[in-house]
Amino acid sequence: MLPAIIRLISVVWATFALIQAAEAQTFRLDSSPDVVMTNASSRDGLNLSGGWTWSVDPYRDGLQGFHGTAAGKGHQRFDPVDVDEATRKNPGDLYEYDMRRADKATLPGSWVSHTPELRYYQGLMWYARDFHYSPKPGKRYFLRIEAANYTARVYLNGTFAGAHEGGFTPFTIDVTGLVLEGENSIIVGVDSVRTDQSVPPPVTDWETYGGITRDIQLIEVPGTFIDEAWVRLTRDGNIAASVRINGNACAGQAVEIAVPELELTMRGTSDERGQVELRTTAPHKLAKWSPENPKLYDVVVSTAVDRLHERIGFRTIEVKDEDILLNGKSIFLRGISMHEEELGTSPARAMSESSARALLSEIKYGLHGNFVRLAHYPHSESTLRLADEMGLLVWSEVPVYWLIDWDSGETLDTARSMIAENIHRDRNRASIILWSVANETPVSDARNRFLQTLISDVRALDDTRLITAALLTRQTEENGQTIAHIDDPLTDFLDVLAVNTYNGWYGDMPLDAVHDIKWPDDHGKPLIFSEFGAAALAGFHDPELIRKFSEEYQAEYYRQTLDMSSNITFLRGMSPWILKDFRSPRRQHPIYQRGWNRKGLLSETGRRKEAFNVLAAHYKMLEASGIAHRATTD
Ligand code: GCU
Repeated sequence: MLPAIIRLISVVWATFALIQAAEAQTFRLDSSPDVVMTNASSRDGLNLSGGWTWSVDPYRDGLQGFHGTAAGKGHQRFDPVDVDEATRKNPGDLYEYDMRRADKATLPGSWVSHTPELRYYQGLMWYARDFHYSPKPGKRYFLRIEAANYTARVYLNGTFAGAHEGGFTPFTIDVTGLVLEGENSIIVGVDSVRTDQSVPPPVTDWETYGGITRDIQLIEVPGTFIDEAWVRLTRDGNIAASVRINGNACAGQAVEIAVPELELTMRGTSDERGQVELRTTAPHKLAKWSPENPKLYDVVVSTAVDRLHERIGFRTIEVKDEDILLNGKSIFLRGISMHEEELGTSPARAMSESSARALLSEIKYGLHGNFVRLAHYPHSESTLRLADEMGLLVWSEVPVYWLIDWDSGETLDTARSMIAENIHRDRNRASIILWSVANETPVSDARNRFLQTLISDVRALDDTRLITAALLTRQTEENGQTIAHIDDPLTDFLDVLAVNTYNGWYGDMPLDAVHDIKWPDDHGKPLIFSEFGAAALAGFHDPELIRKFSEEYQAEYYRQTLDMSSNITFLRGMSPWILKDFRSPRRQHPIYQRGWNRKGLLSETGRRKEAFNVLAAHYKMLEASGIAHRATTD
C-alpha cells in the first residue's frame, strides 16, 4: 500500500512541477551564460583557429611556484614576453619556457595528436598565438572558444580575461578594451584533469581528449548588439521569438524578426533588460521541418544598428500517451548513438563539418536512420547544424554520467551551467527533439533531487522539446520468464523513458534467450532503447563458434535484440550503442580492443561490420512500412 501512496505523491509532485515550469517559461536562468552570441560563426571578426604553439605544464608551474605562491617572472607562461629578446637585453634573466619558440600544432584538436608522448597526457597545457587587429571605435570585442576540455583560462596581452569549466560548451569573454591596435597575444591554459566534483567525473568510458577541440574566434559586434534570438514554432501554432539585446543602449530598441520566404515580419521594443518576446500565427504556407523534408528558413533579426542571420527549421515535437508526435504525426526513432570522434586510426576529436558529414551520412543513408543520440555531452554546433540540414532528429545530453557527486553544490552548479549553455546555444536547432539530463546514474534521494533540479531548468528554458534520461532497469525471473522493470523514480518526471539494456552482452543470459525478455508497460509513456550493443573486432570471424568479439556474435546479438524490440508496444525508438568504434582507456583486451571500445557497427576507419547490415535492413523495413512502427501485441 505504502509504495502506491508514494508513487501517487510523486506523480502529483511531477504534475505540479510541470505546471510550474510551464508558467515559469522564461528566457534565461541564473545559470544562463552572460553572453550567448547566437550563430557566432556568422559574426565579423577573426577566426583564430590554425597554428598555435604549445607548452606542456604538468606541475602547473605557469600558475604557481614551488611553495604554492603565484608564479613569478620567468614562469608565468601567460606572459606575452618575447623571451629571446628579453634575455638578449638582460642576459641575467632566467626563463624556463618560451611560448614564441615552442613547438607548433594546429587547433582545434586535442593534444593527443601533437606528439606520441602526449597520447595519455592529463594536466595543464598552454597554447599561444599572436594576431594582428585594428579595433574600431564603438565596436565591442569578444573571445569565443567553442570547446576546451576540461577547464580553460584565457589571457589577452598578458591580462587574465576569463575562465570556464566544462569540456563541451562554448564560452564568450568580453575583451573590449584589451584588444590592441596591431599585434596581440592570446594565451590559453587548458587543464584536462577532472575531480570527483566534475561533470563528468574522472571515470567515463570514453577518451578525455584534453585541449581546445573546437574553433576559437575573435568576434566584433556593435556597441549594442543582438546577443540571442530564439525563434520557434509553438505547439499551439504560433511562431514565437525571444530576443535579447546586449549593451548600454539595450532598452527601448526597435527589434524586427523577418522570415522573408514566409513574408512574415514581427516587430517589438526591448524592455529594460534588453529583452523582447514576440509571437504571431504561423502562416499556412509554412513547410514544417522533418527528416523527410528538412526545410530551413532564413531568419533575419535586426535592430537599428545590428543584423543577425539564422537558418531555422520549424516543427513541433510532443508526447501523446505512448506516442512521440513529430508535427502531430506518430514517429518511430530509427537511430544510433555517436561519440564526437572522427573516423581514422588516430582521432583527436577534431570534428570538422566534413568529418561529421561522413558519420551522419552513414546514419541517414547507410542505416536508413532518422535519429542520432549525440552521446554523452553536447557535440559541436556545426554537427547540430548539419543534422538540421540533412534531416536527422537529435538526442542532446550533458555528461551527468555514472558517479556524479550528488551532494556537491559545486557539481550541481556546474551541471546547471552546462545545461543552460547547451540549450542557449542550440535551441534554434530543429533537429534537437530531446534534452537528456543523465546517463546510467545510480538511484538515490540525492540523485533524484539533483536531476529534478536539472529537469526543472530544462523545462524553464525550453518548453518546445521533450525531456529524457538514459536509465538502468531491474530484472526479475518469474516462472522462467525474464522481466525487465523500468522502476527508476525519475520516470515520473520524464516525458520519454529511455533505458540502456545489454542482455546477451553483459551478464550471463544466452543470446538465444534475449528475444523472449518481457517489458511491462507501467508508465503510459513512450520508451526509447537509448543503448544496446555488443562488441566485434572488424574482420574477426571464428569458423568454429559464434563467440564474443566476432562479427557473427555481434550480428546475432542485433537480430535477437531487434526481435525482442518488436514485441514492445510502447517502444518508440532506439539508438543502439554505437555507430563507430571509439577510444576508451578502459578497454584493453590485447587482441580485440587495445584501447578501443569495439561496439561500433563501423570500425574506427569506417569499415562496416555484419551487424551494420542487420540494423540497416531492420530500419529499411520500418521506413518502408510508412507508418510509425508499432509492435504487434499478439
Ligand atoms: C554504458 C555507457 C556507455 C558505455 C557502454 C559500454 O551503457 O552508457 O558510455 O560505452 O555502456 O559498456 O560500451
